[in-house]
Amino acid sequence: MTSTLLPKDIHGCPYLFLAPMEGVGDASFRKAMASVGGMDEAVTEFISVPCNAHVQSLSKVYNAQELNPIPLAAQIMGSDPELMAAMAIELVKRGAPRIDINCGCPSNTVTGRGAGSSLLKDPRFIYEVAKTVVEAVPIPVTIKMRSGYEDTSLFQENVLAAEASGVRFITLHPRTKIEGYTPPARWDLIAQAKELVKIPIIGNGDIVKVQDALHVFSYTKCDALMIGRGAIINPFIFLQIKAHFAQKTHEISWEMIEKYLRYYFAALPEKMVEKTRVNKLKQLIGFLCKSHPSWTEQRQTLLSTQSREGSDYLNTIISVLQHNF
Ligand SMILES: Cc1cc2nc3c(=O)[nH]c(=O)nc-3n(C[C@H](O)[C@H](O)[C@H](O)COP(=O)(O)O)c2cc1C
Repeated sequence: MTSTLLPKDIHGCPYLFLAPMEGVGDASFRKAMASVGGMDEAVTEFISVPCNAHVQSLSKVYNAQELNPIPLAAQIMGSDPELMAAMAIELVKRGAPRIDINCGCPSNTVTGRGAGSSLLKDPRFIYEVAKTVVEAVPIPVTIKMRSGYEDTSLFQENVLAAEASGVRFITLHPRTKIEGYTPPARWDLIAQAKELVKIPIIGNGDIVKVQDALHVFSYTKCDALMIGRGAIINPFIFLQIKAHFAQKTHEISWEMIEKYLRYYFAALPEKMVEKTRVNKLKQLIGFLCKSHPSWTEQRQTLLSTQSREGSDYLNTIISVLQHNF
């Protein structure tokens, strides 16, 4: 079933989501990705809803206009259905076009309080949380889940419980909590989920090349694709996928890369201290260097370069990357 929420482009390219990535895929990264273009929609990193949450103040981190005109969904993570619903209501007031429920975070701090991938331990829990949120808000609610907690024994029941709760679609990162990020992602489970339910399934996990995207889309028959780390490694991946469907090539010029890096740096929060600016750039560069063989050779040098000022470090990386482009 194709959802009206997930239109393909005129060349049949699936709807492309930028994945939520707490810590790495923050607002600065999302804005830089929006400046590059190609993605159809993004979602915030999880907004935690602890049991003593003051939802009104916590919801202020969300800015619906952040990527305007690209829609930005809000992801919530918690274990108390009523509080999750209260947070969803606040986020709707702040203009969220969609609420996504996190059923995948593997961090022990998060699972220790029954949130994130902990929800995968009991399909009834997924159902209760999701249904409560669905009933509380007038906008689409979706779920992003892993394939299980310790193993995949509840996989089918979890997917069915999500569908029964009334969520509009499921994004599947096909690894268990225990598997963390260990490759490979089980794309066969995306295909299984697709056969199991009528609501759309968004395929996610280990899509780092255009060929991966094409393979996941055709092999699993999923309705749309979500890319996370692949976009930090290659910020142009969405444009390249779209170009492929349009039977064009999308050459990456040095100017595009420099523009992206400068955009990212300019989008870092004004009050961020210089040391953090340098570290944020290092985090980005650690991924970006994987996209180009001669940059991979420079990776360690760039990561160990000391700079007091973010702008100095930015100029250093720009000159090294350009020289080795
Ligand atoms: C640093 C990092 C932070 C992440 N934070 C979130 C998050 O806040 N919410 C979420 O649902 N998934 C989160 N994820 C999982 C990603 O959205 C995605 O499902 C996973 O990385 C697999 O996709 P990929 O191979 O395209 O990166 C995170 C992943 C990484 C690497």
